[in-house]
Amino acid sequence: MIVGRAVEDFRDKITLATKFFIKGEEVKKDGSVLGTITRHLEASLKRLRTDYADIYYLHRISPDVRVEDIAEAMNALISRKIIRGWGLSMVNAEILERANNICHLAAVQNIYSVMDRDYEKGVIPFCLKNDIGFVAFSPTASGYLSGKVKASAKFEGDDVRKWVPQMKSENITANQPLIDLLKVFAERKHATNTQIGLAWMLKKYPHVVPIPGSKNQERILENLGACNVVLSDDEFGELEEALKGIKIHGSRKDVGMPQEFID
Ligand SMILES: NC(=O)c1ccc[n+]([C@@H]2O[C@H](COP(=O)([O-])OP(=O)(O)OC[C@H]3O[C@@H](n4cnc5c(N)ncnc54)[C@H](OP(=O)(O)O)[C@@H]3O)[C@@H](O)[C@H]2O)c1
Repeated sequence: MIVGRAVEDFRDKITLATKFFIKGEEVKKDGSVLGTITRHLEASLKRLRTDYADIYYLHRISPDVRVEDIAEAMNALISRKIIRGWGLSMVNAEILERANNICHLAAVQNIYSVMDRDYEKGVIPFCLKNDIGFVAFSPTASGYLSGKVKASAKFEGDDVRKWVPQMKSENITANQPLIDLLKVFAERKHATNTQIGLAWMLKKYPHVVPIPGSKNQERILENLGACNVVLSDDEFGELEEALKGIKIHGSRKDVGMPQEFID
């Protein structure tokens, strides 16, 4: 585990990704999109003590900077070898296509879990067809899949679960059928609910990489252990069929995710 060591010590062993977000007013000041992105990137690389990033993500589409202009800048940074590839986060297939036509994307980082499957319709197939990795964030549905979150749970301070719709008390209860389904498979496979949720997406697509988050060593090891939980074709088919019959209550769309970012 990397604790208290400089990134440079591990540079050849890790894939290093970092993100940025820019606004039109910055571009005006710097004189060009490339100028603004270079300034952000140089500051990140300095903080990370490295001289290149493997993937540089645009964290969110800016309302006043065209994604095509960002893609052009990425071409320049890749040819200068300051980044090896680039990515987008929380985008739909239309934006993805516009960007990818100008500079091939290495990765797209969108929300995706057994509970949040909207991107199966457009973005995930687009990525597969165009050789783009799909990085699934919140793949454990903020820990909900574990089945350990109780309707009485209170989230405080900067805990993002305060606004995650599936973590609203009424949705924690209403989504219990999903937990019950995962539990059936977990018992059968001698695994945990969360591991079944992760194993399901690893089985489903060759290009989807889940990035679970945890500050707890036991849960990090549990989540890594999902690699060893292999669903057979029959088990996977059975799980998929059962999922079709389960309505999910609460979605990121409910908290203001614009429809144009979902497909
Ligand atoms: N691109 C974006 O816009 C975006 C947005 C959000 C997140 N991300 C990135 O995505 C990654 C993970 O996202 P996320 O944190 O939402 O993932 P997540 O794994 O769905 O949720 C993490 C939460 O679930 C709990 N958890 C994780 N594994 C668990 C398990 N096996 N059993 C019970 N609880 C478990 C964690 O609690 P404990 O810490 O107590 O284990 C934590 O509260 C991070 O790298 C983050 O930076 C990207």
